[in-house]
Amino acid sequence: MKNTNILDKRKIAEAANIIKNDGLVAFPTETVYGLGANALSDEACSNIFRIKERPINNPLIVHVASVEQAMEIAEFNEDAIKLTKFWAGPLTLVLPQKISKIHISKLVTAGLNTIAIRIPAHPVALKLLALSVCPIAAPSANKSGMLSSTTAHHVRQNFGDAVFTLDSNQKTTYGLESTIIDLSSNEPVVLRLGFITPDILSHFLKKEVKIALKTSKIKAPGMLLKHYAPKSSLRLNATALAQTEVGLNFGDSKLTSEGSINLSLRGELTEAAANLYEYLHILDDYAQANNLSIAVAPIQEEGVGFAINDRLKRAAE
Ligand code: TXA
Ligand code: MG
Repeated sequence: MKNTNILDKRKIAEAANIIKNDGLVAFPTETVYGLGANALSDEACSNIFRIKERPINNPLIVHVASVEQAMEIAEFNEDAIKLTKFWAGPLTLVLPQKISKIHISKLVTAGLNTIAIRIPAHPVALKLLALSVCPIAAPSANKSGMLSSTTAHHVRQNFGDAVFTLDSNQKTTYGLESTIIDLSSNEPVVLRLGFITPDILSHFLKKEVKIALKTSKIKAPGMLLKHYAPKSSLRLNATALAQTEVGLNFGDSKLTSEGSINLSLRGELTEAAANLYEYLHILDDYAQANNLSIAVAPIQEEGVGFAINDRLKRAAE
């Protein structure tokens, strides 16, 4: 991972002071930019919901610096302990909240008795957590219903100067939000697809791991909402381009026109995932300026391809 030198340590210290004073800080993680606030403060957390225009029934992920800190906040069963192997990294665990001396704001859990928690792998995020000395509640740094931010520029497009932003000058490594797995009942259920696939989790836990989208029970409040949406309309699995469209290609697809771009010329899913939101942002701006809609080439359903297609379906809704 990159080192924190890309960002002035003083800038991170300044950000930590803002967190300590109930303010908001946008910061890079290895997945997408987060919009962080002190998870112990109602006032700080309420700022997140206000500025994002996020419905208050949509709970937040708590970011912590260590497994020990996580264990003070949530009840870890055997499976949860096993999955800490993926930390720091793009995996969020939903676990029963622990009654302890650490009082997480009720706004974070939106009235549920479970809590979503992860250790981010980005050095800037870890430094911010260390200097803030508190768990940080952080949704993706975008207005509710909009595309997640993979660069500081995207954050500014959403919030202007209203949010102090730690700019890593790089796009985030994975480009997709963390995988969320609910371990609060006996059956592990993936609530959001991501880089760490259900197959990997199932293999690791040596048991079946279900996917929430395929079960009838609705467990992730946020998954209900229209999400990750650009302003322009999207047509998926396109094999040819209409006059009124601009193309988002993958591999050797041929949606060619001025403005059309390719998620990965080599047809690599990892590269496509890292580019997805940035390219959707670019195409959205282009489509809006030229009165076009967006056509997206087929992307294979394997590995992280499932997560990419999941985000594209949401964007197309
Ligand atoms: O990669 C990520 O996870 C990024 C970075 C910043 O860490 N964060 C992120 O947060 O994507 P957000 O708020 O955009 O998405 C969090 C999702 C929402 O769909 C929310 O409903 C769900 O997590 N969630 C949070 N707490 C939950 C809980 N206790 N039970 C079920 N779902 C929960
Ligand atoms: Mg989000």
